[in-house]
Amino acid sequence: MRSLIDILELSLEEIDQLIATAEDIIAHPEKYRESCKYKKLATLFFEPSTRTRLSFEAAMHELGGQVLSVSSAGSSSAAKGESIADTAKTVSCYADIIAMRHPKEGAPMVAAMNASIPVINAGDGGHNHPTQTLADLLTIWREKGRFTGLTIGLCGDLKFGRTVHSLIAAMARYTGNKFVLISPEELKLPSYVKKDILQKNGIEYVQTTDLESALPALDVLYMTRVQQERFFNEEDYLRLKDSYILTPEKLEKANKDLKILHPLPRVNEISVGVDADPRACYFKQVLNGKYMRMALILKLLEVEV
Ligand code: CP
Repeated sequence: MRSLIDILELSLEEIDQLIATAEDIIAHPEKYRESCKYKKLATLFFEPSTRTRLSFEAAMHELGGQVLSVSSAGSSSAAKGESIADTAKTVSCYADIIAMRHPKEGAPMVAAMNASIPVINAGDGGHNHPTQTLADLLTIWREKGRFTGLTIGLCGDLKFGRTVHSLIAAMARYTGNKFVLISPEELKLPSYVKKDILQKNGIEYVQTTDLESALPALDVLYMTRVQQERFFNEEDYLRLKDSYILTPEKLEKANKDLKILHPLPRVNEISVGVDADPRACYFKQVLNGKYMRMALILKLLEVEV
């Protein structure tokens, strides 16, 4: 039995297989309509979510399965002090697979150590978000046709941005990729990600505070939100929240083949005027997330179609 806590637990071959399954689901959805009949997914979300929870639930429904849901910390016995370990053991009695989001880094790993069913990390604090990375990878694959030789700009909150940490880990395994890390000084990529992933693997990267001068060289721009919920101090959040706002005017200097991704939700960092630009891929990314989560559920439940 396998869980998914960190994107690096999937080999490159397994990523290719998940993408192939997602592509087959897109082409032949009818083949998959009953593949998880009588299977149940429990979504345990102790932090707010729109895309991740609903896409997991839509994924399970489209596979013919059923869903049990905890949509907020206050609506489960976690509010009475129940431990993650006991919650995981309990939910294992009712469901076949768990998708868990939690504000504490490592919580889904604790759940996986105590559950008797697969656990998927649906985002743990400022740490990792491997299924968002699966959505990002399918989007890059469909939009750029390759995972190699790309200059990837990541902009915004690189410190607390779990989607950024997981995407860098995933893309650093392919050859020839370079990273441009665009953030305010206070929200720079954590040194453990730089040391353990970029420096250890000899990956080329630059750090800058200037989005506009970085834009022309980029093949992919991954915008992120400055996350109010990760700040201890409201003043710092207010000072940093509008550090970067991508507009149609700024995009005039960008490559014609640039692909703009964002895990969403956005607040102010991409103006709605950008949405009509053919380079904007963030709503395609939302849909790709559902297909990759369908592929992942099939893999972890070991369902053959
Ligand atoms: N991308 C993402 O994790 O969105 P939600 O917080 O809405 O799930």
